[in-house]
Amino acid sequence: MRFLKSGAITLLLFFFAFNATAQSTADTAKVTIEGNDKMQFNLDEIKVKAGQTVVLTLKHVGKLPKAAMGHNWVLLTQGTSIQEFGLAASKAKDNEYIPEGTENVIVHTELLGGGEQTTIEFEAPEAGTYDFICSFPGHYAMMKGKFIVE
Ligand code: CU
Repeated sequence: MRFLKSGAITLLLFFFAFNATAQSTADTAKVTIEGNDKMQFNLDEIKVKAGQTVVLTLKHVGKLPKAAMGHNWVLLTQGTSIQEFGLAASKAKDNEYIPEGTENVIVHTELLGGGEQTTIEFEAPEAGTYDFICSFPGHYAMMKGKFIVE
């Protein structure tokens, strides 16, 4: 009886250990970033590891509608000028401010209005430092940060 009991506990411990491993963050980086009605992201730096799957949630924690204070999260390729891209993006209203056929975007979310949120999943690009911005007209001046792949 005593043996059975300890065996059951060992099994239980093994189960928990296995479960913890399965939920480990080694393969996945979960990131939540917020945008508000003051044209601000709450993060100016996001760090992930090469090879990780990034699960990124963008939350618009404001109340203003998309047309007035839309936010997205756009990860730019290295070497992209934020200003040049931001200007081009501001003319792409019909495509949620992502220039059609652009080669400067690694990945981006949809455009959100107040109270909305969205989640995207992507493979971290190769190690290095990348810029992220909100491409809604004029927002890139304040809504930007570094996406660092280690
Ligand atoms: Cu924005």
